[in-house]
Parts: sequence; C-alpha cells; structure tokens
Amino acid sequence: MNIGIVVHSQTGNTLSVAERLREKLAAAGHAVALERLEAEGEVRPGVRDVRLKSVPDVEAYDAVVLGSPVHAFALSVAMQAYLRQVPSLAGKRVACFVTQFFPFAWMGGHHALRQMARACQAKGATVCGTGVVNWSRRNRDQRIAAVVDRVSRCLSS
Ligand SMILES: Cc1cc2nc3c(=O)[nH]c(=O)nc-3n(C[C@H](O)[C@H](O)[C@H](O)COP(=O)(O)O)c2cc1C
Repeated sequence: MNIGIVVHSQTGNTLSVAERLREKLAAAGHAVALERLEAEGEVRPGVRDVRLKSVPDVEAYDAVVLGSPVHAFALSVAMQAYLRQVPSLAGKRVACFVTQFFPFAWMGGHHALRQMARACQAKGATVCGTGVVNWSRRNRDQRIAAVVDRVSRCLSS
C-alpha cells in the first residue's frame, strides 16, 4: 500500500511518533512518505488565518495518517487549517493520532481527535483508528508502541 503520513509538530514529539510509525509501516512492506506541515508565522491557539507553506497532496496515497499536537484542549490550528484546505479525502482510509503533555486523554486529546475525525469524515474519509500519546505518562514508550501498533493494524486490515 502507498501510505502518506501528514504531521504537524512544533517541538518534535508528534514527529517522533510519526517516524516510529513510518519505520513500522515500511518494515511491513508499505511505501511510506512523511510530510510535515509548516506554517508561515506563528502557530498558536486562536490564530484563525494560519497560512501553510504547502498543503500536502494526498491524492496518490491509498491510506493517510494524520498526526498533531493538542493545543489548548483542541487540535493545533495548523492541522485544522490543513483539514480545511485539503481538497478531498474521499475513498481514503485514514488514521489519526495526537500527542499531548497532560496525562489523560480527556484533558484535550479526545476533543482534538473528535475534531480531526469529524473534519476527515466531512472530506469523505473513513476513519479506521485513532490514538493519543500522553507525553507526561511514565509508560510513554509503551503507549507510543501501542498507538503505532493500532494505527498500522487499522491501515493494513
Ligand atoms: C500552545 C500550546 C498549547 C498546549 N495545550 C495543551 C493542552 O491543552 N493539553 C495538553 O495535554 N498539552 C498541551 N500542550 C502540550 C503539547 O500538546 C505537547 O507537548 C505535544 O506533545 C507537543 O507536540 P510537538 O512536540 O509535536 O509539537 C500545549 C502546547 C502548546 C505549545
């Protein structure tokens, strides 16, 4: 399968999970491209007119993974902007994950994932799986492995 991972990451946490996922999917024989969202100017909660340097085109991919940090109990505004601007996700199998600092998913992670899943479905995608990595948890590495595993299974099944 041809899989695209589109990630927004400011301090590298979400990117590191995306890289783990890329390694796992590539080891399973998939062709995987990782594309990073970058914005012009500052990305912070409340900024509405985020301008992305580019809007990765996912047309060529069979499946797409989207990864984002949680900002102010919501999806990062850069990922929100991407999901407004991507022309279509029709017919794509999509998996979504977020990373957040706080230890429990109800502290922003669940809300951000709901926003992400709704936006993907509005663009015609089938969301097959989601995951939250809580960065301040002591068992973070296990949680990363579990999210990577869940996402790669849902794309391959
Ligand atoms: C502006 C801002 C707002 C944040 N808001 C939250 C939040 O509401 N809940 C939370 O758990 N973490 C919050 N965080 C922490 C990030 O979600 C967390 O550090 C994440 O893993 C960063 O991912 P990145 O390194 O890929 O940018 C916030 C970070 C920033 C910079």
